[in-house]
Amino acid sequence: MISPREIRSSLSAVLTQSLVLITGTSQTAYAFAKQASAIPDQVLLRHAIEHVFRIRMFRRLDALATKMLRDIDPEVRDLWAAYARSEAVHDRYFLRDLSAAGIDRDTVDSTPPFSATSRLVSFLELSSRQQGALPIILYSFWAELNSEVGSSAVIARSQRLFGADAARGALAHRNLDAHLDHAGTICRILSAVIRNEDELLTAAHLLRIISLFIGEYFAELDAWSRCNSSYSPAFGSQEPKLHEA
Ligand SMILES: [Fe+2]
Repeated sequence: MISPREIRSSLSAVLTQSLVLITGTSQTAYAFAKQASAIPDQVLLRHAIEHVFRIRMFRRLDALATKMLRDIDPEVRDLWAAYARSEAVHDRYFLRDLSAAGIDRDTVDSTPPFSATSRLVSFLELSSRQQGALPIILYSFWAELNSEVGSSAVIARSQRLFGADAARGALAHRNLDAHLDHAGTICRILSAVIRNEDELLTAAHLLRIISLFIGEYFAELDAWSRCNSSYSPAFGSQEPKLHEA
């Protein structure tokens, strides 16, 4: 068995490499990771809208993973099921924040998701048919580890731009992640799913592919921001600090 700690250390190294690439090529990714004070208001709101879409799209995938985990230790399966149930309803947090910032639900619902988000979901669905729940759980690894380190500065930026009400949901989401140790939970689940070094290599490969889709999302957000704001933060080649090994 590979321990949750080893899983975390090994896959975090992959995340770090991937984030260097993403933040080195995308202005918006750089700002979210390194310079939250420079994130423009419109970009922050558009990113929150995509968060709503991602939560909605992942409901089905997370439920699929729950079914696929039926052969796993019941305690681990229940851990995932509880995690998935909790995440599934958090779109309402972000919808409330958006509403407080002046973006109503109709506007959210009439906004098309970015293509990279839809393609990420399609990839995870297809790959999970071949590899079981692992690809879907790895996306949660990506999300939870980044939330752990990256989200506080972004929440502070929302509070400054739009007021406390417009960040209340994001803050509640972040606090739940921390209080329930979602990152640790996902590492425990991965430790039950990844049974040997070969499977750890497969997981690392899948995580790199997931990171490519995230990179494409930020490239789309860059293009969107060029059309929707006069946004040009300084961005350089510092190491991103979205998570720790
Ligand atoms: Fe979470």
